[in-house]
Amino acid sequence: MKISYRISVISLGFAVSATPSLYAANAATLWKKDCASCHGDDGRGDTKAGRKLYINDLTDASLQAKFTDEEAAKSIKFGLKDAKDKVIMNAISGVSDDDVKSLVAYVRSLKK
Ligand code: HEC
Repeated sequence: MKISYRISVISLGFAVSATPSLYAANAATLWKKDCASCHGDDGRGDTKAGRKLYINDLTDASLQAKFTDEEAAKSIKFGLKDAKDKVIMNAISGVSDDDVKSLVAYVRSLKK
């Protein structure tokens, strides 16, 4: 009895303290799960898939200046195709618009 009481108190404390950074934590989790395979953990795109796609370095400020937040959100939501209509970046699925927004913020935070 005493032990389970203690465990529930600890997990509650964790939930409360984690709330302010929930947004960022969620974006970081999504990034690892849905984006890092191509863009890399750090956004440089130094991955097998990234090199194959001649992916750009998202930490590069001049690249970041080439798209608006709206464009980035659209690319994340609907994916990207090359000139031959081949999908080069998959559309993300199963996430809310808020998740997409927080991913855009995450991408901006990669800028060096
Ligand atoms: C299958 C590989 C792949 C995956 C997975 C992927 N991307 Fe991309 N992404 C690309 C390619 C290729 C481009 C276009 C070339 C470039 O700009 O590097 C791109 C471009 C972008 C851009 C620039 C947008 C623009 O409009 O020019 C952003 C922002 C981006 N990706 C974010 C993400 C996020 C966030 C995720 C995860 C939800 C993700 N990507 C997943 C391959 C991928």
